[in-house]
Amino acid sequence: MGVLARYGHLIDSVTESTPQITLGEGSTPLIRSRHLESQLGVGELYFKLEGMNPTGSFKDRGMVVAVAKALEDGSTGVICASTGNTSASASAYASACGLESIVVVPKGNIAAGKLAQASMYGARVVAISGLFDDALDIVRSFAGPGPIKLVNSVNPDRIEGQKTASFEIVDELGDSPDDLFIPVGNAGNITAYWKGFLEYHAMGNATRLPRMMGFQAAGAAPLVLGHPVEEPETVASAIRIGRPASWENAIMARDHSGGLIDSVTDEQIMDAYSLLAGQEGIFGEPASAASVAGLAKYAAAHPEMQNRRVVCIITGNGLKDPDNATAQGLNVEEAPADLGAVERLLGMN
Ligand code: F0G
Repeated sequence: MGVLARYGHLIDSVTESTPQITLGEGSTPLIRSRHLESQLGVGELYFKLEGMNPTGSFKDRGMVVAVAKALEDGSTGVICASTGNTSASASAYASACGLESIVVVPKGNIAAGKLAQASMYGARVVAISGLFDDALDIVRSFAGPGPIKLVNSVNPDRIEGQKTASFEIVDELGDSPDDLFIPVGNAGNITAYWKGFLEYHAMGNATRLPRMMGFQAAGAAPLVLGHPVEEPETVASAIRIGRPASWENAIMARDHSGGLIDSVTDEQIMDAYSLLAGQEGIFGEPASAASVAGLAKYAAAHPEMQNRRVVCIITGNGLKDPDNATAQGLNVEEAPADLGAVERLLGMN
């Protein structure tokens, strides 16, 4: 069941005339940690595997709503700026619905798999000599009514769809977790999760609200520094953003929930990236590992995490970014096509 079928009745902009499209987004697994929970010193730790969405990231939850509304409004196409995942998601839903898609990306700074996706889904891909922030400035002129609909998270339909991840967590755990650890780039997702938790709490489906614990990459941490970053830099290209569009909403989520927005270094991100794959069997992309890196950092300084129930959002699939994985050093040993030789190599004889 897709996001519109499962939660359409709780999404503000969805009406009876909204087309019920789906590519099978949402209802992603919430997996209990098998090793990091005790290693990091957390009471209960769960990973929400958003990389299991149809285009491999959480963007599909909001995109299905934004594209359904674009169809309902008679748009002929969609446009977005992106560090990669939004472009993959927008072009997939556009292709399924017979809409044109235009994606504007920072040249040379989007992961190979994401570019391959947008291209295969049939997008017009415009690579600008600039940052994601410049790309967003360019496409913002498409906000509002018109044949080409802007589907970045400044479009409220995107936030509406993404809030359903909070509903799923509460539905599965029976209440809100104590803490939600989440990577922050343009800040749409932390905004959406907080909106979801607030709404479910107000409806009586949760007895409490989680602390929102957001993490930016140290080289691209405007919300932590309190000012825009002119030249953001990080290995986690998905969150290489200097001027987040949902700045105020992220700060509100942080303050309202008693949470924090902190930064983690590229080294901490890559350590968490390897730990997650090597200890939990979960291959997230580097930006996703920022939530785990943030938890490792925070739990090391806060022993009381031993008594807390935590959800970490794994926002995107590691397969999207093969270059960062292979840069870790491929663990391949060669042998002749011969059982004896393979056994000798493995130390079995
Ligand atoms: N994780 C991944 C894998 C992402 O792709 C993004 C954002 C984030 C985290 C941060 O989420 O922006 O809502 O704070 N990707 C956008 C894109 C910017 O264009 O795909 P956010």
